[in-house]
Parts: sequence; C-alpha cells; structure tokens
Amino acid sequence: MLEERTNDLLNDEARQFSLLLNSVTDYAIYMLDTQGVIRTWNAGGRRIKGYAPREVIGSNFARFYLPEDVEAGLPERNLRTAAQEGRFVGEGWRVRKDGSCFRASVVIDPIRVDGELIGYAKVTRDVTERHVTQQRLQEAQANLLQAQKLEAIGKFTLGMAHDFNNLLTVIINCQDLLATKVQDESSAKLVDTALRAAERGALLTRQLLGFARGQALAPERLDLSAVIRECDGVLRRSAGDAVTLELALADDLPACALDRTQLETAVLNLVCNSRDAMPDGGRICIHTALQFTQDSALPDQPPTPFVRVSVHDNGPGIPQEQQARVFEPFFTTKPVGKGSGLGLSQVFGFTAQSGGFTRLISEPGHGTRVELYFPAM
Ligand SMILES: Nc1ncnc2c1ncn2[C@@H]1O[C@H](COP(=O)(O)OP(=O)(O)O)[C@@H](O)[C@H]1O
Ligand SMILES: [Mg+2]
Repeated sequence: MLEERTNDLLNDEARQFSLLLNSVTDYAIYMLDTQGVIRTWNAGGRRIKGYAPREVIGSNFARFYLPEDVEAGLPERNLRTAAQEGRFVGEGWRVRKDGSCFRASVVIDPIRVDGELIGYAKVTRDVTERHVTQQRLQEAQANLLQAQKLEAIGKFTLGMAHDFNNLLTVIINCQDLLATKVQDESSAKLVDTALRAAERGALLTRQLLGFARGQALAPERLDLSAVIRECDGVLRRSAGDAVTLELALADDLPACALDRTQLETAVLNLVCNSRDAMPDGGRICIHTALQFTQDSALPDQPPTPFVRVSVHDNGPGIPQEQQARVFEPFFTTKPVGKGSGLGLSQVFGFTAQSGGFTRLISEPGHGTRVELYFPAM
C-alpha cells in the first residue's frame, strides 16, 4: 500500500519537483516572474530567510535586499543581467525576516519557453560563515604585513639612529670644547648656532630610537590615571582655547611599569595631533580603563589585562589609505616646519617597547581615536 503511494508520488512530475525542492534546505530555490515577483518558495528559503511561503509568495524579491541596494536599483539590474547574459552570479548582503543580515551567494537564471522569457529561477546560499572567516583571515594577514613592515623600518631606523647619535655626540662634545676656547663674539655665535643644530639632530635621533624600540626606558610603577591628571595643565595649554579637553579617568586601575616621561610625551603627542586636526576647535577626550584583550598582531593569545589610555577627538579623521602609514617615522601631512612625522612613531615604539600595543580607530568625518594598551602589573 505504502509502496503504491510512494510510486504514485514519484511518478507525478510536478510532485517530484516539489518533493525535491522541499528536501533541499541548504539552498533557497524559488521562481520569480519577469517582474521579480516571487511565485514559489522552498524549505531552504524558509530556513535561510525566515519566511513561510504565504508570507512571501506574491511579493517582490527586492524585499530581501538592503534598502540602499533597492534604492540603487540592484534587484532590477540583477534580473536584467540574467536575461541579457544568460545568468547572473553574485554575492552580497541580504536581509532576513528578523532584520538580521546574511551574506548571500546568488545565482539567477532566466527561464524561457520557446525563446520567450517567462520568469527566473533563483538559487541563494547563505555563505556568511565563509565570508566572515575570509575577512578575519584577510585582516590577520594585513595586520601581520603591517607589523612586518614596521619591524623592517624599525630595524633600519635603529641602525641609522645609533650611528647618527654617535656622530652627533662627537660633534656636540667638540663644539662644547670650542665654545670655551673662542674669544670673539661672532665666532662664539657661530659655534652656538652649530651646537643648537647638533642638539636638534640629537633630539631627532632620540625620537627615532624611540620608534625603533632602542630607547633606554626607566620603568617605574605608575597609576596611569594619576599621571594624566598631573599633566592636566600642560595638556590643556597644548590643546589651546578652541578645544575642549575632557578627562574620564578610571579610579583604582592596576598599576603599570612604564617610563613616566615617555608616557607623558605619548599622551602629549596625541593631544597635539588632535589639536592640529581641529584648527577651528572641537573636543578631545582622554579615557583610562582596564580591558582584557590581546595584541591584534597576536590573535591566538588569550586575553590578558591591559590598562587602556585612549585619546579621542571629533576632528576630520584619517583617510583609510593613510592609516597604514601614520605610524611610520617622518610620515606627516603637515607643512614643513609644522610636523616632523615623529609623534605617532614615538607612541607606537613606546607602547611596543613597554610590552603593549597601539590601536588606531578613525573614519573620515567621525574623528580619530588612538588607544594605547599597557600590560597591567
Ligand atoms: N587626531 C588626528 N586626526 C587627524 N589626523 C591625524 C591625527 N593624528 C595623526 N594624524 C595624521 O597622522 C600624521 C602623522 O602624525 P604624527 O606622527 O604625530 O606626525 P605629525 O603630527 O608631525 O604630522 C599627521 O600628519 C596627520 O596627517
Ligand atoms: Mg604629531
């Protein structure tokens, strides 16, 4: 009896197809008419997009697209491509019934009867997981590449800076000796000018050593909130009158072992950058907090406690294409005499040499946030 019924079911062609389509749950397979109105629906459609057949049949398939894609005419364009080129194959973000988004791999085939277009067959697969994994991989690769690049620049810089430092030390010592020997005023002036230039050169090499992690640090046990609070006056003067400076400093943070002068320099560098980015005024916020995290260049490590110092401004932000370069020594977008391009490289080198790391979060039009992470003691 059952066998008979099974045979009947399998012999009826329409039923066969309906059975087949509804056993497929990994793919949404459905038909559209020439205008994109949904005519059939399968179990895969329900599983992936969340709609029961009666909720979608009779409505336009554009409902699965993001509003901005609908506005840009994407659903119609995809149908047109399928009709004109014989197939549309693509990937994009779509919306489920519950409003959540998923990454869809889509194929649209035109259906023709005697050469006349009567509708479309559409197959959609949810590839969100693969997409997210791929993106994570790409991010990890980009992070690694960036870390390797900065490492290479660091090694080069370290060698250069050491050599220059030695040369400048000799020059400065000789000029110091000369200064005690010259009698006439104009010669003394010349020696003095040369001495000041050499000292400026020495400062530059020290900054380069900071980036290249060749700086001799003098770590001491510090409460970061307290250090920043003590710098309040200097920071406010540097920020200038046009800018509002807010401090949101956490109490009872764990201590960090850091070089106080370098820490103050790093925060000052960030405040000055924000100020420079907002000549017409704006807001700078300095936060401190405890956070369990890991260096994004070492994503396999378990999260450990870090004290985070973040300097956030509501300025113009940093263009995406510059973000990979701002930590390089001498990278500056400021006019000659205004910027040395050594601010962020000091910040980068100092955090790295202190066992921490730096994160930059910036979007044009949405300000800039630089986060410094230091291992908690
Ligand atoms: N808060 C910020 N807002 C916008 N751009 C910034 C900000 N901080 C840094 N930058 C960009 O990064 C570049 C490098 O910064 P930095 O290393 O401090 O060097 P400098 O300040 O001497 O230019 C700046 O020239 C600027 O283009
Ligand atoms: Mg700077």
